[in-house]
Amino acid sequence: MNTVAMNAPAAPRGRFITFEGGEGAGKSTQLARLAARLRRRGLTVVETREPGGSPGAEVVRTAILSGAAKKYGPFAEAMLFAAARADHIAQTIRPALASGAYVLSDRFVDSTRVYQTVFGEVPADALAGLERLTVGDMMPDLTIILDLPVEASVERLRKRGAAPDRFEGEPLERHRAIRDRFLALAAREPGRFAVVDASADEDMVEQVIWSLVEPRFLPAKAPAEPAA
Ligand code: TYD
Repeated sequence: MNTVAMNAPAAPRGRFITFEGGEGAGKSTQLARLAARLRRRGLTVVETREPGGSPGAEVVRTAILSGAAKKYGPFAEAMLFAAARADHIAQTIRPALASGAYVLSDRFVDSTRVYQTVFGEVPADALAGLERLTVGDMMPDLTIILDLPVEASVERLRKRGAAPDRFEGEPLERHRAIRDRFLALAAREPGRFAVVDASADEDMVEQVIWSLVEPRFLPAKAPAEPAA
């Protein structure tokens, strides 16, 4: 029996946290704030995003969000998201988790589950097949949904003033459906998801997110040594 291998410490496994929700909900801001808090605790953090997050996946991102891939149809778009995700996992997420880092991703597989069924009308079982092939066991430890009424997110996007991308230009009713699907996913898997009200001010949202992450993932601080 190989006792050395049996006694070897388990390979480190970092933590994988994803941010999801509709447009304009403040995902990138809150991801950056959580990353800063974790770093202040001395932890290694990798900030990433989808579509994208690796050089190959960023090329696919441009093809999708510019609308260039739209003419190939919703299945092709779904497969492009999946292909980008496979590369993102292989190049960025898996190595970072293996080194013990905290990986924070702005969107991940739940965006495909929601957007490609609502905008692309791709059947959920087809997406589940792609998901098994590309994601496998690389599911997030925690998925934070930043939840915002659609009218509020439209207003935030208008204030931002940037030209709408492939998905932002879709009609309001579809964005309502996006919000409902995210909430339905969260209800189905309450152990992985947390729904956070994104209409509160940024400091408050940051605090709520920290109150979810700290007790769940951060090693408790050692109690102070009693004075001799
Ligand atoms: P992005 O510019 O990252 O915007 P946001 O601030 O909303 O995250 O755009 C990503 C867009 O791509 C967004 O509209 C959601 C969509 N998307 C999908 O349709 N499927 C996916 O799997 C992912 C990751 C994103």
